[in-house]
Amino acid sequence: MIYLNGEFMPIEKATISVLDRGFIFGDGVYEVIPAYSRRPFRLEEHLVRLQSSLDAIRLANPHPLPKWTELVGRIIAGNPWEDQNVYLQVTRGAAKRDHAFPKGLKPTVFLMASELVPPSAELVKYGAKAIVLPDFRWLRCDIKSTSLLGNCMLRTLAADQDCVEAILVRDGELTEASASNVFIVKAGTVLAPPKSHLILPGITYDVVLEILRANAIAHEVRPVAESELRSAEEIWVTSSSREVLPITTLDGKPVGRGEKAGKPGPVGERVYALYQQYKAQVMRAPAHA
Ligand code: PDD
Repeated sequence: MIYLNGEFMPIEKATISVLDRGFIFGDGVYEVIPAYSRRPFRLEEHLVRLQSSLDAIRLANPHPLPKWTELVGRIIAGNPWEDQNVYLQVTRGAAKRDHAFPKGLKPTVFLMASELVPPSAELVKYGAKAIVLPDFRWLRCDIKSTSLLGNCMLRTLAADQDCVEAILVRDGELTEASASNVFIVKAGTVLAPPKSHLILPGITYDVVLEILRANAIAHEVRPVAESELRSAEEIWVTSSSREVLPITTLDGKPVGRGEKAGKPGPVGERVYALYQQYKAQVMRAPAHA
């Protein structure tokens, strides 16, 4: 069951105008919200980020927070899986084709859900492969825009080489990956690039930083040089659907040195376990009224 512009319906029944600016220009923003045991995870943070994306593209939020909460709740209730990815998208709506944002359009609001399948135990145990590519996307990667052609091209280049992610560098520094944020470990300290217009402010990124702080795990939020990425002891990618996933092969070479080379490292393993603990704890807490 999906939601489109005021109505719940089966996805096959949903139609939009071919003049929708989301279709013509990618003029829209979106969120992907994980739900575990039918409870949305960090919903408020996702809705705050949605507001920032809408503000950045000068699109009025079509719904107040409680309405979004209700819509997300109804989508979760109307779909068969216990764990779901709730996808929501707002586009500027349909209008005669003209690049400048027209005023007074009715935005298109769409929500759907899919089964949330976290990375397999095997992938978490052995880690995944990634490649490094130049970040050729635009300079507003902080907006969660549906214009994702750059990300799609980069992810496809990674998939061509049997890799789960393309890790991106711009002007000699790590930015993020095609659909996730990136952390590395150097000399036992976790390093994360700071939030800027060059990366998406990930909700999982924030959760990981909170975990690092709460457990006094050495970390620094600062620019990470490409050379530091390439010589990292550990690399992890984080996202709502990937959680905290170790990258153990980078450009065909094992990540790390010594006996841990090409295997998930101790810091990542600890953070992964703490993330799972935190998730379980949040899911057990009494639901909000
Ligand atoms: N992607 N960076 C990019 C470019 C992303 O697309 C995503 C998420 C992230 C991680 O953000 P979060 O922790 O809030 O999921 C970082 C989603 C899952 C997607 O497009 O499917």
